[in-house]
Amino acid sequence: QTIYLKDYKPFGWIIDDVHLTFRLHPTATRVISRIRFRPDYDVHDRPFMLHGEGLKHISAKVDGHEVELHHVNGGIEVDVPHAPFNWEAEVEINPEANTALEGLYMSNGMYCTQCEAEGFRKITWYPDRPDVMAQFTVRIESDAEHTPVMLSNGNGLYYAQDNTQSPAPNISIYQDPWPKPAYLFALVAGDLVAHEDKFTTMFGREVDLSIWVRPGDEHKCAFGMEALKKSMKWDEDVYGREYDLDEFNIVAVDDFNMGAMENKGLNIFNSSCVLASPETSTDGNFERIEAIIAHEYFHNWTGNRITCRDWFQLCLKEGLTVFRDAQFTADMRSEPVKRIDDVLALRARQFPEDQGPLSHPVRPESFQEINNFYTATVYEKGAEVIGMLKTLVGDDAYKKALDLYFERHDGQACTIEDWIQVFEDSTDRDLGQFKLWYTQSGTPNVTVREEYTDDTFSLHFKQSSEPTPGQNKKLPQVIPVAVGLLNDNGEEVVPTKILELTEPEQSFSFEGHATRPVPSILRGFSAPVVLHQDIDNSRRAFLLANDTDPFNRWEAGRMLARDSLLSSIREGNAPNSDYLVGLRTLLGDTSLDPAYRALMMGQPSQSELAGVLHQAGVTPDPAAIHAASEALRSAKAEAFADILPEIYAANQVSGAYSPDAEPAGKRALANAALGLITKLDGGATAATQYAKANNMTLQLSALSALLDAEAGDEALQAFYDQWRDDRLVIDKWFSLQVMHAKPEALAKTTSRLTNHLDFDWKNPNRFRSVMGMLAAHHAGFHHESGASYALLADWLIKLDPVNPQTTARMCSAFQTWKRYDEDRQKLAGAQLKRIAEQPNLSRDTSEMISRIRGV
Ligand code: ARG
Ligand code: ZN
Repeated sequence: QTIYLKDYKPFGWIIDDVHLTFRLHPTATRVISRIRFRPDYDVHDRPFMLHGEGLKHISAKVDGHEVELHHVNGGIEVDVPHAPFNWEAEVEINPEANTALEGLYMSNGMYCTQCEAEGFRKITWYPDRPDVMAQFTVRIESDAEHTPVMLSNGNGLYYAQDNTQSPAPNISIYQDPWPKPAYLFALVAGDLVAHEDKFTTMFGREVDLSIWVRPGDEHKCAFGMEALKKSMKWDEDVYGREYDLDEFNIVAVDDFNMGAMENKGLNIFNSSCVLASPETSTDGNFERIEAIIAHEYFHNWTGNRITCRDWFQLCLKEGLTVFRDAQFTADMRSEPVKRIDDVLALRARQFPEDQGPLSHPVRPESFQEINNFYTATVYEKGAEVIGMLKTLVGDDAYKKALDLYFERHDGQACTIEDWIQVFEDSTDRDLGQFKLWYTQSGTPNVTVREEYTDDTFSLHFKQSSEPTPGQNKKLPQVIPVAVGLLNDNGEEVVPTKILELTEPEQSFSFEGHATRPVPSILRGFSAPVVLHQDIDNSRRAFLLANDTDPFNRWEAGRMLARDSLLSSIREGNAPNSDYLVGLRTLLGDTSLDPAYRALMMGQPSQSELAGVLHQAGVTPDPAAIHAASEALRSAKAEAFADILPEIYAANQVSGAYSPDAEPAGKRALANAALGLITKLDGGATAATQYAKANNMTLQLSALSALLDAEAGDEALQAFYDQWRDDRLVIDKWFSLQVMHAKPEALAKTTSRLTNHLDFDWKNPNRFRSVMGMLAAHHAGFHHESGASYALLADWLIKLDPVNPQTTARMCSAFQTWKRYDEDRQKLAGAQLKRIAEQPNLSRDTSEMISRIRGV
């Protein structure tokens, strides 16, 4: 059953308040609801419909009288008066049996919830839609011994043991003064300990902050707490947003389908996205945790105070909040490094989505299961769209528009139209064409040609987009292209300027240039497009050496690496010397940030190369791509043999571990050097590093290098023995082995790992640490035997009845299947068909598989 944006209708009723009582029990929790409804007189003839799924019904009363429920698709209809009335219902649910991890479920003896997008309907009868906002009061009763801590949204009002009952239960009451949709509801109960702190807001209010974890994890909370306080301060300084409750709670949960969730005043996190210690977390983990804590915190205004009218508007909160967390990270760390990281992620995850069968607009127009639309397009392309808007209107106008947005829409459930209107009203700009970024899917192609005559330098642009599912004709979009001009000496003669492309073809001229300038185009990756520019390697080498825009300087190196790889894949050529020479100079330039140089050392991934070949009309050969990638790495190791030991030595960090950008950047560069050194010394340096490592960044990179050199067996065992009791580290141990398998051995290695006692496949982190890596191993996943396709299909079929959401997400491993040759398409197609034909396939997985198959 497909839901369409165009069919939106308001609910027809307004909720004055919601009172919930939970009598917690692992297999038989009672949920008692008391809700005051009144008609929304602007909206007539609505049947009174409440959502509900898998609820054991006990009773339902309207104004004290038991009523009959009429079961309809996804819920119930009830005959109610056309006047205000009280709804009282009692249902029973089974948290322990809830392996889908949606609604109220248990993780290691702890009760927790996940309600976004449509999980609240698994808790009680309710209008489970984001445009119904209400004040909640929640009472939780539970046995004192196992669940001493009981939390919900808002402010804690009351906590006591009720000695009139035997055994005496604990009672906790929470009240949330801010009206909210049900998807922001949360409840947590368990044996938890808090890492506490305080924050004083810009207007002097004191907020109690707590990060709640299982006993034993207390030492992993300090970093998250600092990140939270930094986020609170940053949102005040940059967006003028103050926190609005007396307490803010974060809870770490081991079994969680995604990263984290912004429930009002009670954020719930996948433990991998909040727990951190130097011994167990890498620099990358620390940075990611800081960003996710910020992301969830920022949702308090962009998502919670202003929410979405319906799930089609998901990008309204997600695109904006991703954009805000990226600004935060850029401010806390390095702006160019963050931008490059984000573009890498966009090209790795969003471009393949937008160029394949799962392509959809940033604001989709239809879905079967909304959980399938928490995608790179909605999140990351959604954030790019905000960035373009800011570029087009300028920083001051952006700030004015955001102030207006918060003022005009606080407490409302909004649409993309509301968002765009705010910018139109505060800038007098017509954004009608800009809005296509929200409605048109696919990655636009921009082609540029240069011309130089009579002191005038011109750029001639063309834009076009390929057809995508459901959209054959594309209109030209507004594309901000940041351009600067350099002279022959590498000096900037025209600083960055924004050219606005709005037509299919458009030219821009720069007059008064006595010598031909060199353009630097799409600086800072000013739009999420594919740029086609017919320039040779010497020009790229020039930009690599001279561009004043750090993004485009990095991009020039990236394009050199890419062309080198493509020419060895297609023509068997040796690695390109412009690339090796240019990169060598850069690596030796100690005036450049080590983190930036570390990024320069990277090269396009094998799946990115496959995508580029496919876009150019060439069928990618995974084995050839793998061989060329390895050959380029070896060539770099040879070419830089003399400078690598020095780079490695110069970037060792002494003293106590700090996850800050500066030492992390040095470690990133040293570890990139280590990767190449290992190609030359067979793992000798890596073995020394492994033996001495006193933090996870050094330990893991050393282990990874050893595995690369096929000299890691002993270290792998030692690593397991050291960390067998730490789930998050053992996830890394699984991942690493899959990542380093030889392509032809991948399916066998992975299959062996799934037989390991610690392969707890019902835990999403563990499942992803193995199956996610299988899918990410380009040459191995697409091995001609088809063994990896079959293995992944086996596991998707096994997981689907247990956890549809995590299964459906992993199906995207197959989204590129049509890129490859006929034999591979047959093999992958057969597995997709096998999955599709499973009886009782979940709605989540069946939607994904049918979109991927294109049927
Ligand atoms: N809103 C959460 C976040 O962006 C993610 C929720 C994901 N929900 C889902 N059903 N996939 O932080
Ligand atoms: Zn979010």
